[in-house]
Amino acid sequence: MQLETRTIFNTTHTDSEYGSIGTPLYQTSNFRFRDVGQSTGYDYTRSGNPTRATLEKVLADLEGGAKAVAVSTGIAAIATVLSHFDQGAHVIATHDCYGGTARLLKLFEAQGKLEVSFVNLGNIQDVRAAIKPNTACLWIETPSNPLLEVVDVTELSKLAKVYGLLVAVDNTFLSPFNFKPFEFGADVVVHSTTKWLNGHSDVVGGAIVSRTPELGERFQFLANALGTTTGSFDSWLVLRGIKTLVVRMKQHEENAQRVAEFLAAHPLVSDVYYPGLTSHPTHTLAKKQFTGFGGVISFRLKANDEEAIRSVLRSTNIFTLAESLGGVESLIEHPASMSHASMAPELRESAGITANLIRISVGIEHSDDLIEDLSRALSTVTESKPAKEETVSC
Ligand SMILES: Cc1ncc(COP(=O)(O)O)c(C=O)c1O
Repeated sequence: MQLETRTIFNTTHTDSEYGSIGTPLYQTSNFRFRDVGQSTGYDYTRSGNPTRATLEKVLADLEGGAKAVAVSTGIAAIATVLSHFDQGAHVIATHDCYGGTARLLKLFEAQGKLEVSFVNLGNIQDVRAAIKPNTACLWIETPSNPLLEVVDVTELSKLAKVYGLLVAVDNTFLSPFNFKPFEFGADVVVHSTTKWLNGHSDVVGGAIVSRTPELGERFQFLANALGTTTGSFDSWLVLRGIKTLVVRMKQHEENAQRVAEFLAAHPLVSDVYYPGLTSHPTHTLAKKQFTGFGGVISFRLKANDEEAIRSVLRSTNIFTLAESLGGVESLIEHPASMSHASMAPELRESAGITANLIRISVGIEHSDDLIEDLSRALSTVTESKPAKEETVSC
């Protein structure tokens, strides 16, 4: 079956008891035992729940992995994967990863649990040079957040295999509709299901999908041990979101391509970051690796003063000023003071997250309306001033 069919079929044929079309919601913390020592297969929802189990099967199928575990947030997924490593293990992570990922890695480093190197994964020599005897994991996020840089997962995985490193890919930005990291050598794929997979901005959730059953068992164990597993209602909502993943992603991408082209031609915009643009530095690699480019775009204003940035952020009507991405509605945000505010300023700066950078998540509204909205917001910027280093706070 094609993905279009599986996202519907696998979320529908789940109730052997009564044949309900909707996935049954087992909103319960615990389950009655059939007899002493004889459970139904479920005893307590932290350890397992039939609604969550359905989501986990669907997620494993979507990614082409052996097993998945659904957890409470994307960060819970990352924390659970990182808890797999021994004390003092070294993790090489992409230098422009999501701010919350960077914050977590820094926290674990400060506590002596992990050693961390933030490296530009686009430069394979730098990655090779960063590998040490205690390196255990290569943490990849591609396209990166917020600059949409694409790295070669095949090449990185090949290098990682030589040194026995676990390759973890955060596939939040594209979803399995556009990218299948296992086909490029990943061992573990994590998601913030909060984003495209759920797609309706009404859940925070996460997932860990493993290439092998053994790794899958390990992450099920760790998620239960740490208590990071997600609840049944959130699982049910994500399942409902997944039914429309394909149609949503197609529309997000079509809209994003049009919006990116509009921004690239706009006289007040200096740079546009969208892998679907032929001008994007890693467009060719993106085309080879992905089946589409998703719905997130970042851009820099030429007029780089605080007022200009505030003015654009405040003047959109359809694009809502809010963090996050991947919902049906369009959002606009300021990475330096919002999504990436938790990143150390020097790390933020070296990753190119400057004060004049704006990120948008393109929704599935009509693209004419979205372009008109951005056009009107940009028209509020009147004069061009030289760049300032400090960030604005929104
Ligand atoms: C790439 C990426 N990974 C992980 C996360 C964390 O997900 P959550 O907010 O569901 O914890 C985010 C959140 O924005 C993200 O953008």
